[in-house]
Amino acid sequence: MQAWNDYLSQNKDRFLNELLDLLRIPSVSADSKYKNDVARCAEAVKENMLKAGCNTVEICPTAGHPIVYGEKIIDASLPTILVYGHYDVQPADPLELWHSGPFEPVIKDGKIYARGACDDKGQMFMHIKALEVMTKTNTQPCNVKIMIEGEEEVGSTNLGKFLEENVAKLKADIVLISDTSMISMEHPSIESGLRGLAYMEVEVTGPNRDLHSGVYGGAVANPINILAKMIASLHDENNRITIPGFYDKVQELSAAERTELNKAPFDLNEYKAELGIKAELGEKGYTTIERTGIRPTLDVNGIWGGYIGEGAKTVLPSKANAKISMRLVPNQVSGEISDLFKNHFESIAPAGVTVKVTAHHGGEAVVTPTNSPAYQAAAKAIKTTFGKDPIPTRGGGSIPIVALFEKVLGTKSVLLGFGLDNDNIHSPNEKYDVFNYYKGIETIPYFHKYFTESHGK
Ligand code: BES
Ligand code: MN
Ligand code: MN
Repeated sequence: MQAWNDYLSQNKDRFLNELLDLLRIPSVSADSKYKNDVARCAEAVKENMLKAGCNTVEICPTAGHPIVYGEKIIDASLPTILVYGHYDVQPADPLELWHSGPFEPVIKDGKIYARGACDDKGQMFMHIKALEVMTKTNTQPCNVKIMIEGEEEVGSTNLGKFLEENVAKLKADIVLISDTSMISMEHPSIESGLRGLAYMEVEVTGPNRDLHSGVYGGAVANPINILAKMIASLHDENNRITIPGFYDKVQELSAAERTELNKAPFDLNEYKAELGIKAELGEKGYTTIERTGIRPTLDVNGIWGGYIGEGAKTVLPSKANAKISMRLVPNQVSGEISDLFKNHFESIAPAGVTVKVTAHHGGEAVVTPTNSPAYQAAAKAIKTTFGKDPIPTRGGGSIPIVALFEKVLGTKSVLLGFGLDNDNIHSPNEKYDVFNYYKGIETIPYFHKYFTESHGK
C-alpha cells in the first residue's frame, strides 16, 4: 500500500534511531544488577507504544519484571490481533568476545550489532513501528493489543499468572509474534512450530570435602569422573537418548511430512563451514533439519567443579555440577520429562556418590497449522512484500508462553519471525540486519489487512 510505503520511507531514520536507543538499555532479566535498567526499558517501550497511537498503555507490575500492555481498539466488530514480544535480553557475557559494546549498538555492513538487536527488541519493535505506520495513515485494519514482557529469557515465570488474571482483557482472535527466524531473505519462511523445554540442574557429591588427589585418589569416587560418565551414558551409540520412556509420547511425522520438511533449502556444507565444524552429529536416521525441528534433544549447557584456576592443583573435588536442557517435541510433557530425567539420573548414580536433581523452567512444544486463516494471512503478507511464497519450517527454539496462550486464553499464534539463524542470538556479536527490520515493518501491516479480510471484514 502506497501510504504505508511513504510513511515508512519518510520515517526510516527515526525508526532506526529509536531502536538503537532501546538497544542502549541493558535490560538483562536474569541479573538483578540490571533491575532498574529493565524497568527503564519498560518505560521506553511504553513511550513508543503511545507514540504509535495506542489509546491506553500501562506498565503492569509482576512479582518479577513488568509487562507493558497497550491497546488500539478501533471497532468492536472487527477482529483483534494480540501482539506478543519481549523487551528483556540475555546476559551479554563473555564480554571479551564482542567486537563492540553489547549495549552500544553500531551499524556495520547493514547490520545492527547489539544484545537484543534480533532477540527480541529489534523484532518486537517492528510491531510498534508498524502500528505507528497504520495509525498515522488512518489505515489500521483491525483492533490491536500489544503485550511486551520482561521475563521471556528467564522462563516467563510471571506471565502465566498474568494471562490467567486477564483472560477478558487479552481476548483476541490471534497472537502475532516475531521472535523466530527465517531461512534467508531469498528464501522467506514461517516457523510452524516451536520445541518445548525441560531444563535441569544436577549436583553429584562424593566425599564431604575436597581431598588430596594423591592421598585419596583411586579409592574414593570422584564426582567429576562420575558425572562425566553419567552424562555420557544419556546418549547411546546412535545418539538417541537413553532415559526410559523419553520417546514414548514423541509425535512421529509421516514419511510424506518428513519429505515435505526436507524440501526446505539447506546446504550442509555451508552449515558446517559457517559453524567451523568438520562433521555434523545427531540422532541416527534423521537429517539436520529434522534433528533441529522435529526431534527431541538433551544437551549439557554448563558443567563445573574442581579446580579451574591457573596452573595445576591436585584435588579430588567434593562436588560436580551440570545444567542440562532437553528440547521437546509435540505431545511430550515438560513436567513428565523432568520426572523421567530425575528418576533415571538418580538411578544410575553409583554407590559412592549422592545425586541431587532439580528442575528449572520448562515449557511445551507447539505446532501452528499451516492451513489456518491466520497462517495463510501471514503467508500472503510475505508473498506481498518478498514476492515469494514462504516455506513452512519447524523452529528449534522455545517460547514457553505460546502453549499457554492456547491453554489459558484459547488463542492460537502465528510466528512471523524475521531473524536469521546466524544472527548470534544469545551469543557474542548478536546482530539484526537493517534490511530485515524494515522488511518486517513493511510486512506486518499486510498481515493485519489479510487477517482482517479472512474474517470477511
Ligand atoms: N526467541 C527465542 C526463541 C527462538 C529463537 C525460537 C530462534 C525460534 C528460533 C527466545 O527468546 C528464547 O531464547 N527462548 C529460550 C527459552 C526460554 C525459556 C529461556 C530458548 O529457546 O532457549
Ligand atoms: Mn526471543
Ligand atoms: Mn532468547
